Amino acid sequence: MLNRRPDSADQDRRALSRRRFLTASGIGAAGAAMLDKAIPDLLASPAQAAEDAALGPGPIAATLHVNGGSRQVLIEPRTTLAEVLRGSLDLTGTKIGCNRGACSACTVWLDGVPVASCMLLAIDIGDRKVTTIEGLAQGEELHPVQSAFIVHDAVQCGFCTPGLVMSCAALLDKNPNPSLDDVKAATSGHLCRCGTYPHVFAAVLDAAATRKG
Ligand code: FES
Ligand code: FES
Repeated sequence: MLNRRPDSADQDRRALSRRRFLTASGIGAAGAAMLDKAIPDLLASPAQAAEDAALGPGPIAATLHVNGGSRQVLIEPRTTLAEVLRGSLDLTGTKIGCNRGACSACTVWLDGVPVASCMLLAIDIGDRKVTTIEGLAQGEELHPVQSAFIVHDAVQCGFCTPGLVMSCAALLDKNPNPSLDDVKAATSGHLCRCGTYPHVFAAVLDAAATRKG
């Protein structure tokens, strides 16, 4: 079918820009339900695709709301949130492992929801609030999940730890009384090459019990 005229479905497929793909797929750590919600937005109208293409290629001035403050940054449109956090903002607690949405090491919160920051373009963040591992503790007081990770020795090399902590803390905010299966589901997208999973599960259940007091 080499000479077939393009139909509207072909045009829709071409309108699937890298930017929109990243926007939708960045929510991987937040679960399949959110992904389902985002998929219809993948197919941009030609007009929207043209609007997307108008940004850049040079750096664009933007304000990012991170850890309770506002930071002015110059962002190249191709730059991911993870890169801006670790680069311009020097928040290196967020780790980049696979850089393609497969390991969840780069998990941060966007308006309180865990997201894979390597799969979001920084210029798409807008006014949404970003929380990184540096913003989780209240001053000197660690978040209960952070304390429980220490008590339960849930850290080996530590590379996956910030992302795991962000997902586990978000779980407890949403569900203060999680079951073991709830914890496994919340951490299912996280890869830990050191195999700390049993310690992580015990830590999160302990943190939940401590919070209940
Ligand atoms: S670095 Fe983002 S998911 Fe692996
Ligand atoms: S503690 Fe090393 S990868 Fe998880």
